[in-house]
Amino acid sequence: MPNDSPDKFNIAVLTISDRGASGEREIDGSGNAISELMTKEGFNLVQRGMVADEVPQISSILREWSDSGNIDLIVTTGGTGLGPRDVTPEATRAVVDIEAPGFGEAMRIQTLQFTPFAMLSRATAGVRSGCLIVNLPGSEKAVRETLAVALPALAHGLAMVKGG
Ligand code: MTE
Repeated sequence: MPNDSPDKFNIAVLTISDRGASGEREIDGSGNAISELMTKEGFNLVQRGMVADEVPQISSILREWSDSGNIDLIVTTGGTGLGPRDVTPEATRAVVDIEAPGFGEAMRIQTLQFTPFAMLSRATAGVRSGCLIVNLPGSEKAVRETLAVALPALAHGLAMVKGG
């Protein structure tokens, strides 16, 4: 197996949503879609979570998961827009050692063909403790469109993070 084979990597999915965290929204469609697509690709899903749109809470989970040594990739969904409660990029930047802006740039450029609203997402990415963190927007539709852009580069990116 090459060292950039998806089955070499453990992944976690974090849904960032006030309504999800309060129990108001029962079905986590975007988190489920990421889990389904990543598992189908061959990645090992080892953790799921849900958190409100609060920087300290989001950053705390990102720190805990990336420092655990058991998670190679955290995919977040939600909180990347322009609303006053959208703080996922700030919470991500607060914890990463290096930023990887290419993921957000590529997702925005490639998916503008589906909707001009793609430019409203401030999604970013970065690396902490050998763990790659990638933000996706919040809707299930947006997740499916943007993950299709990121997926072809993910396993190779993860192998680079590991020193490959
Ligand atoms: N990107 C794609 N590819 N498809 C979409 O439908 N929705 C946009 C945008 N990015 C969308 C998308 C919308 S409507 C918003 S408000 C922003 O992502 C931010 O979403 P978020 O705050 O739920 O992360």
